[in-house]
Amino acid sequence: MTATETRIGRTTLKNPVICGSGEHVLTEAGLRSALAAGVGAVVAKSVNETQAAKDQLDRTDYALLDGDWNRLPWDFTAPRNATLACRSGLQTMDFDAWLEITARLDAEAAKTGQYVIGSIILADLDAAVDMAKQVQAAGIRILEYNVGTPYGDEAAGVVTTERATERVTEIVRAVCDVVDIPVWLKITGQSENVAALAKAALDGGAEAVSLMGRFLGMIPELDTQAPLLGTNLGTGGGWALPVTCYWLSKSRAQLGPDAAVIGMNGARSGEDVLRMMLAGAHAVQISSAVWTNGFDVLANAVETVKTYLEARGDTATGIIGRAADQVVPFSALPQRPGFWEQFAPPGAV
Ligand SMILES: Cc1cc2nc3c(=O)[nH]c(=O)nc-3n(C[C@H](O)[C@H](O)[C@H](O)COP(=O)(O)O)c2cc1C
Repeated sequence: MTATETRIGRTTLKNPVICGSGEHVLTEAGLRSALAAGVGAVVAKSVNETQAAKDQLDRTDYALLDGDWNRLPWDFTAPRNATLACRSGLQTMDFDAWLEITARLDAEAAKTGQYVIGSIILADLDAAVDMAKQVQAAGIRILEYNVGTPYGDEAAGVVTTERATERVTEIVRAVCDVVDIPVWLKITGQSENVAALAKAALDGGAEAVSLMGRFLGMIPELDTQAPLLGTNLGTGGGWALPVTCYWLSKSRAQLGPDAAVIGMNGARSGEDVLRMMLAGAHAVQISSAVWTNGFDVLANAVETVKTYLEARGDTATGIIGRAADQVVPFSALPQRPGFWEQFAPPGAV
């Protein structure tokens, strides 16, 4: 293996940077731009069988916010700590057309050691099973199966936010029973125990788990006194990285170092890819930052990971979980009586 290669189950990625699904890869042009940036893999914009999910794409809107929750211009120079709040929809293209493009580009990507991954979002289970069979039959080499969108409670029957472990196992097993290609299950972060959902996914036959989906939010605006963009929104930002790293680390502790866990939600740069890997991610997806800042984010991330590993004489596989494995329980930390006083604000002591 080269220094930047990583393994996700049966799959070797040439580097751990994955362009995650979103509107930036809704078109063939977007998929090609992601591949040209040198990523290990790109996940195509998701499909499902419902017309309502397609219609939702015509109701999308997006807002970038600074640290004071004021809107930033949409000019592709968002600072790394910007929050993205939006509502999204699914691929409007006919399923057969989506299959053809994804399969053709995946075959092309194979020549450069890359992958174009098919993505299905669960609505009806029988329909998802049928689409998964068609993904395999079309020759697409990997399927990501998203059962953890943020919007399940807002768009019931259109997309799902699965939070029950037994149900996660059942719905991934239904798909894994009918296809042989690797199935990567994408799970929600809106759970009291993301690691348990990750285990449930692997129990059902998923080859990898992508964790974790963004959160639902609602942001009141002071001038209009109305909710930003009129509704509840999928919300993400670099601020999510510590929570993602926590669940990556917990999942590693509970599932073991060989469980193929992919980090996502909060990575904005190559440095963040490395942070998530140190927390236990075998590869890392970047989505929002590509949508808000362009495909150079991916090329820069690939370069940053390579430079970091070379400079330290490290390998991608070697750093996975290195920080997570050093986490100690609070009770193992030294007692320092009165230490807290150094941090107290004036007037507190
Ligand atoms: C505008 C937008 C559209 C998205 N569309 C999809 C989608 O179609 N399918 C999917 O699985 N995830 C979708 N996502 C979720 C992202 O792939 C990713 O999991 C999430 O945004 C967290 O990662 P990030 O912090 O890098 O954005 C979308 C996210 C955004 C912001």
